[in-house]
Amino acid sequence: MNAKQLAAEAAVALIKDGMKVGLGTGSTAYFAIQKIGQRVKDEGLKVTCIATSVQSEELATSLNIPMAGFEELSYLDITIDGADEADHSLQLIKGGGGALLREKIIAYMTGHYVIIADDSKYVETLGKFFLPVEVIPFGWQRTFDHLSRLGCTPHLREKQGAAYITDNGNYILDCDFKKITDPGQLQTELNLIPGVVECGLFVDRAQTLIIAAADGQLTTYH
Ligand code: 5RP
Repeated sequence: MNAKQLAAEAAVALIKDGMKVGLGTGSTAYFAIQKIGQRVKDEGLKVTCIATSVQSEELATSLNIPMAGFEELSYLDITIDGADEADHSLQLIKGGGGALLREKIIAYMTGHYVIIADDSKYVETLGKFFLPVEVIPFGWQRTFDHLSRLGCTPHLREKQGAAYITDNGNYILDCDFKKITDPGQLQTELNLIPGVVECGLFVDRAQTLIIAAADGQLTTYH
């Protein structure tokens, strides 16, 4: 079993019958959704889930995991999601997979927010991974200018030679800050810029971080 799968399966063991569950996005969250699907099938686990992306929604539906919408769910007992970087105080960079806005909406309605990752994601200081910032397409070049003034180099995310479009119809500017020493302050400054929809800093959200190493060692941080 690889490290991502190991972390994912340790997190899915926290899910109990009757829970409302948020499903993350990405290659680590993929293993969590697979395992939830297996528990639904083999154990008859009863859960109601909501997904952080179209991709995860499709995967969950294909595994017959019961899904619901926001009109039915206002609170989630647990969400299991990946991260691009996590530090010792459980501050995160997310959005490498482009789902940061939906991921943050779901993180903010979750009681127990659990992050799963392999040990390459555990860092001393956030910022080596370019911080994803979701922006509206209208006037994005000016939003780019404002972001640059915060001391980063932004790059418009592309896919097959065109601007990458999120599930919400927006663009992503990946911002190279090199080192982010005050994620809370930076999050506030970013989200005040007109045109910014949301940034990939998840500050004081995660309660549990499960990190798996290639040799199978699991470390849990709270
Ligand atoms: C998607 C995310 C993912 O959780 C993050 O990119 C980690 O992905 P992976 O598990 O594939 O490394 O934030 O928007």
